[in-house]
Amino acid sequence: MKLCMIGTGYVGLVSGVCFSDLGNEVICVDKDKNKIDNLKKGIIPIYEPGLEELVLKNYKNKRLNFSSNLKDSIKKSDIVFICVGTPTKKNSNSADLTQVFSAAKEISKSINKFKIIINKSTVPVTTGDEIEKIISRKVNKKFFSVASNPEFLREGEAIRDFIYPDRVVVGSNDNKSKKILKNLYSPLISKGAKYVSTNRRAAELIKYASNAFLATKISFINEIANLCEKTNIDVEDISIGIGLDKRIGSRFLRAGPAYGGSCFPKDTKAIVSTADKFKINLSIIKSVIKSNNLRSHLLLKRLNLIMKNKIKNKTISFLGVTFKANTDDMRDSSSLKLIPYLSKKGAKIKYYDPTGSKKEFKNLKNVEFSSTIQESITGSDLVIIHTEWNDFKSINFKKFSKNKKLIIYDMRNIFSPTKIKKIGLKYFGIGR
Ligand code: UDX
Repeated sequence: MKLCMIGTGYVGLVSGVCFSDLGNEVICVDKDKNKIDNLKKGIIPIYEPGLEELVLKNYKNKRLNFSSNLKDSIKKSDIVFICVGTPTKKNSNSADLTQVFSAAKEISKSINKFKIIINKSTVPVTTGDEIEKIISRKVNKKFFSVASNPEFLREGEAIRDFIYPDRVVVGSNDNKSKKILKNLYSPLISKGAKYVSTNRRAAELIKYASNAFLATKISFINEIANLCEKTNIDVEDISIGIGLDKRIGSRFLRAGPAYGGSCFPKDTKAIVSTADKFKINLSIIKSVIKSNNLRSHLLLKRLNLIMKNKIKNKTISFLGVTFKANTDDMRDSSSLKLIPYLSKKGAKIKYYDPTGSKKEFKNLKNVEFSSTIQESITGSDLVIIHTEWNDFKSINFKKFSKNKKLIIYDMRNIFSPTKIKKIGLKYFGIGR
């Protein structure tokens, strides 16, 4: 089929490339001409393992193309995906839909034959109705259908999550588009993906409810970890012990420094804001948001205890600053709270991240980027493991054990406390 992806961020680019790899003809459109020119040269704007090869392969075999001409690209396509950003509005919890509605207006000027318009961006319940209203101001309803097809792509695993999804969710209010979409996804269904076909509003809510539940799982285990720290229990045992119950499931039960990223923080706030609009109080998700926001404060309190309130003039190695491993994304990463605090307390921070130095820390006093793990750890009084990059799992702390005072604060529990203590270093984990 001929597809047009509006927006070439994580969702639009990954989905567009994967659809082209499944045999569709895809045009990825962005108003940022520079981004489009770079994509044509194989320069990828996001860090996503495996994406570059797929772009080059499908661009070369002409199934994938890039354009900044939205009208022309829509005219050439049968299905138009809206994959633009829906960030949290300033000073509010609700999603900013400006880009979604402007895409809908553009689409309404370019409908030359029957089109299916699919919202892949994460949008509040009833947004599909709004898009339908905007387009029907200019176009007779028999020439288009608006559906919802939320994505469940994790950064760093996005291609795998597209090709091998647990489920594909499609929300549509008419049978014609339901049939066409089932056909579009048939290659994934034949590989075992479950296919959920429901109405548009249900599909919109499934996305938010899914992310809010995952965020709840994480905040749940993070709070259990707080209790474990007071009762000399290892939270990893609890995660295993409860996760083996198939009704709970072992994934997203890893205690850590708080969930971050471009989705959980935004989507938990947005679903609460939507519910408030309908006079419904989502009290559990509200407490998840509060618990997660409090977490870095709790960690800093514990850090002060670990350092016996002597942080000033201490040298701290900060390993990994992105919101999770296998991404260069800093959005809502807990390091954005932890590092400025430590710098303000007079510590010298040497941070290392496999994806390089970060503009977010450029102007902070006594915060510098180390180009290797070794450089970051050498001479430090404390090593904080903030992100669970595989590169860190093979660190041999024996090499640094001359400094008997070296403390390891493992915020991802990637090391064995016994092994670290055996080499004579102090070890603190999360929930341990
Ligand atoms: C998430 C959803 O997983 C994905 O389905 C949705 O489409 C987009 O949002 P993403 O934000 O890329 O994906 O990251 P994810 O892997 O979900 O992790 C989110 C945050 O939770 C990260 O900060 C991560 O470190 C944290 N996390 C995750 C934990 O603290 N513990 C866990 O067990 C899992």
